[in-house]
Amino acid sequence: MPDANGKAGAPPVFRLVVLASGTGSNLQAILDRLHGRDGIEVAGVGSDRPDAKALDRALEAGVETATFPRDDFPDRETRDLAMADWIDSLDTDLVVLAGFMALLTPPFISRFRNRIVNVHPSLLPLFPGLDAIGQALEAGAAETGVTVHFVDEGTDTGPVIAQQAIPIRSGVEREELEAEIHAVEHQLFPEAIGMVARGEVRIAEDDPGRVIIERGG
Ligand code: GRF
Repeated sequence: MPDANGKAGAPPVFRLVVLASGTGSNLQAILDRLHGRDGIEVAGVGSDRPDAKALDRALEAGVETATFPRDDFPDRETRDLAMADWIDSLDTDLVVLAGFMALLTPPFISRFRNRIVNVHPSLLPLFPGLDAIGQALEAGAAETGVTVHFVDEGTDTGPVIAQQAIPIRSGVEREELEAEIHAVEHQLFPEAIGMVARGEVRIAEDDPGRVIIERGG
């Protein structure tokens, strides 16, 4: 019988599109840990920055890329519409924000409701927005961490899928803490995406702000 992809006998594939603006170390972790394994494929990598190193990593892995610089479009809505159409043309199951620095407009977010995930370098709801690591250091916090969450219209406010705390040692250099946070991101983000791909993550019916994890589901 044909499966969801229309191919007789072929197992279904869970397709990711990753959006990234910068270095793409999280994209690399996703390519290394998930791409081409257990029915998960990175179908495309998109960026608002044509010079993003993330695009080189995608090409190296043989993954399709596309760029959507803000200046190529009359406004953000039009840019997001073009990006959303490209994402849908790849039969995407999940949109992954891996250091994507452009704000997404509400029509984009509602088109992919509960199908966009983000990684943020703090224990949300603490330190949302820009420079979360600097915010934690500035506040003299004893710990910070990493959060993977679904994206809603707020700034880093969507339902949390996974979190891991990281202690902030007294006198730690920013670079050192950044490296520790990145190392945790590179584990936690692919793990959380894998859980979503396996259908282990769902939004609570009685509370759209809460995630229920059903391992092995
Ligand atoms: C990560 O620290 C992530 O938490 C934040 O942006 C950064 C992206 O880094 N959202 P990279 O481009 O994946 O190396």
